[in-house]
Amino acid sequence: MSSIERRQFDTLIIGAGGGGLRASLQLAEADLSVAVVSKVFPTRSHTVAAQGGMNAALANVLPDNWHWHMFDTVKGSDYLGDQDAIEYMCRAAPKAVYELEHFGVPFSRLDNGKIYQRAFGGQSQNFGGDQAARTCAAADRTGHAILHSLYQQNIRAKTHFFDEYFAVDLLKDGEGRVLGALVFNIHDGQIVIIEAKTTLIATGGAGQLFKTTTNALINTGDGLGMAMRAGIPLQDMEFFQFHPTGIAGRGMLITEGARGEGGYLVNGDGERLMERYAPKAKDLASRDVVSRAISIEIKEGRGCGPKKDHVLLKLDHLGEDVIQKRLPGIRQTCITFLGLDPAESPIPVFPTAHYTMGGIPTNRYGQVVVPVKDTPEEPVAGLYAAGECACVSVHGGNRLGGNSLLDILVFGRAAANHIIEYLKENKYHKVIDEDIVSNAVQRAKRFDLNSEPSPGGDEVKETVAVLRKELKQVMEDHCSVFRDKQFLIEGVDKVEQLCDRMKNVKIDDQSYTFNTAKVEAFELENLMACALATIHSALAREESRGAHSRIDFPDRDDKSWMRHSLYSFENGLDYKPVRTKPLSVESFPPKPRVY
Ligand code: FUM
Repeated sequence: MSSIERRQFDTLIIGAGGGGLRASLQLAEADLSVAVVSKVFPTRSHTVAAQGGMNAALANVLPDNWHWHMFDTVKGSDYLGDQDAIEYMCRAAPKAVYELEHFGVPFSRLDNGKIYQRAFGGQSQNFGGDQAARTCAAADRTGHAILHSLYQQNIRAKTHFFDEYFAVDLLKDGEGRVLGALVFNIHDGQIVIIEAKTTLIATGGAGQLFKTTTNALINTGDGLGMAMRAGIPLQDMEFFQFHPTGIAGRGMLITEGARGEGGYLVNGDGERLMERYAPKAKDLASRDVVSRAISIEIKEGRGCGPKKDHVLLKLDHLGEDVIQKRLPGIRQTCITFLGLDPAESPIPVFPTAHYTMGGIPTNRYGQVVVPVKDTPEEPVAGLYAAGECACVSVHGGNRLGGNSLLDILVFGRAAANHIIEYLKENKYHKVIDEDIVSNAVQRAKRFDLNSEPSPGGDEVKETVAVLRKELKQVMEDHCSVFRDKQFLIEGVDKVEQLCDRMKNVKIDDQSYTFNTAKVEAFELENLMACALATIHSALAREESRGAHSRIDFPDRDDKSWMRHSLYSFENGLDYKPVRTKPLSVESFPPKPRVY
């Protein structure tokens, strides 16, 4: 044990996307020692793939106001979002954008020099009036611009990076305090214990749960799995967002910005299908509405192509200049992966797994919160979460496009500010008992050949590749845009069987150098935990709200279900109330949600 390297930092941040890097920058600038652990080189984190932009009521193009942004977000969440956190985020949005501008983000510009803003889904003026234009964009490569600028600022501020280290587990003491994490260096397999007074999980989402996804291969819910193993329940995992316009059958994202620029969807009969489902907002209704509309068109035989299994996104009427200026990235994607130029031909699209709306429960300071006795939310000492892995909850049942980049920046910064205050009161490292470390080390070695056989596991050897493929197919078949009881029951059964089989996974590659087989095994374990939480929570929620659409319970049921789900290994399902009281304005009570 003594040969294991130990490092000490004020704060350990796990994950180097926008949430992690915004937090680390704030902390490094406050002269704290901050370590960022990332399983990929930081600028390969999934924030880099965000296309369409970041919402803020700057009113550069059309009249706007943070309060309208708040209304749209509450309505978009189907009234499951916590209104204190939503108010905080929408009020903080303009400042977050200007900060980015000062960090060097090259936003697209209007002719008057102001930041370019485009229309996105679910945006309105005057609490549900005309369409707003709230999404600040750097062409259709906004996440790329933001992530690179944040990384460069962190280098300047002397953040310490552990590039290509994989975080396996949190280190938690008997009193429930989180004291850091066990990580290993992917380069040489060496374990490092990172002791930290505070730990922030910023590992992103779990889009790899599904077969067809816009998400990178790295999006395996690592922080969510880690949190569950540390006894923290996951919140609202049944709410998984399907983006209406993934490339059909392949999954690459075609930004909602394409519809914001004037693109529209057509079915196999050449009709503008969204006129039927959202007469006012049409193609700029919120994502759950558009994804359901496409699924219904296809189910009812009005799809396109020989198999009638997709619809078409039409952009050719926008003209090559607009497409090249505002949407160059998706043009290139279409040319590369489909051999078609959207300036000339429509794009085949289908709803595709995109965003984990649930996650690790936090308050608006980024503190991870858990129910304790009769209290629904008590902070876990020393533990924070921000970004897609966290559930603040600002997105509730359905996230609005453009609120994800905003969420990571606002709450990455808020978590860092809280950490700065917390560290003033908690100046010293706590001693980590040897048995905490040795248990973590034993678990980290569980895929080594000489590891103990798993308790209760028979000796049938399972492989990561087979189980991962089956898991993604099960989730796609049983927990997709539309759900029903029988299908979910079968899905729960299949996921539980896969989790059992996971105990018998063995890996052939036992080398120390770049052992990606081992990384994939840990990733799959994290995905299994996310799948359990997602499908159990989906089966239990007997209503339709936001992205959770039950054929057998087609209506929203505010009386029984305006509450957050919490799923843990130890207790199964539990619930807690939605925070309906904003910080300074009147609450938005639930209303029928029409676009
Ligand atoms: O469509 C998009 O550009 C995605 C944006 C988002 O998920 O916020």
